[in-house]
Amino acid sequence: MPGRVAVVPTMGALHDGHRANFRRAAELADSRVVTIFVNPLQFRPNEDLDKYPRTLDADLAMCEAEGVDLVFAPSVGEMYPDGREGLTTVHAGPDGEILEGASRPGFFTGVLTVVSKLFHLTRPDVACFGEKDFQQLAMVRRMVRDLDMGVEIVGVPTVRESDGLALSSRNVYLSEAERAAALAIPRAVRAAQASPDPLAAARQTLEAEPGLDVDYVAVRANDLAEAPDRGPARLLIAARAGTTRLIDNAAVRIGDPR
Ligand code: PAF
Repeated sequence: MPGRVAVVPTMGALHDGHRANFRRAAELADSRVVTIFVNPLQFRPNEDLDKYPRTLDADLAMCEAEGVDLVFAPSVGEMYPDGREGLTTVHAGPDGEILEGASRPGFFTGVLTVVSKLFHLTRPDVACFGEKDFQQLAMVRRMVRDLDMGVEIVGVPTVRESDGLALSSRNVYLSEAERAAALAIPRAVRAAQASPDPLAAARQTLEAEPGLDVDYVAVRANDLAEAPDRGPARLLIAARAGTTRLIDNAAVRIGDPR
């Protein structure tokens, strides 16, 4: 692969959010690799591994249209040739146990292990991840620093539908009524961004929507530490519409929304 190499790890079912990652990668490198792998290690037994959308032909068409140089779409057997029993894994630090990690135990071990493998397999100089998975982005940054992986990690802003819903491969699961309820999430983001108390504003908006089951709503520092008393911070939300779990996050300011 000539020159500087960027990798964009994905689980496929590509949408405009992934497209934004591919385009950012083009600005940062001479060659781009996209990986497509639905990683069983980051799904719990009761989660949607089997029904996770798999759209390889459409994904390959998008990669081709975007001028991606190489798509790496291994099978589970190729990624875990000795099986998953007894596998050497990457264990996240304590930040892997809050928020997504508290709701989905083992999730970040699954993510960091596969991202580490994908980095070793593709040897990138830079890797692009969507900010929509804000905690994942922070955990990958931390892993790269802690384990001296020498890969530059770049976050790409969340892409939203015109009504504000963050793009996600899981949005295809939503019925019309669930999608309408899900719009309370971007509403909560906007309310939080306009309020000096972003947590209370988001919580109030989410609680007013009976079609949503809130998993967590939290405000943390940008590095996931406890939120500061004032100033810039990050709002993070996870909620279920029907059986579909959605996450979102946004920059907020505590004490002074501006
Ligand atoms: O964000 C995702 O799609 C996945 O968690 C990732 C980073 C591709 C690892 O499987």
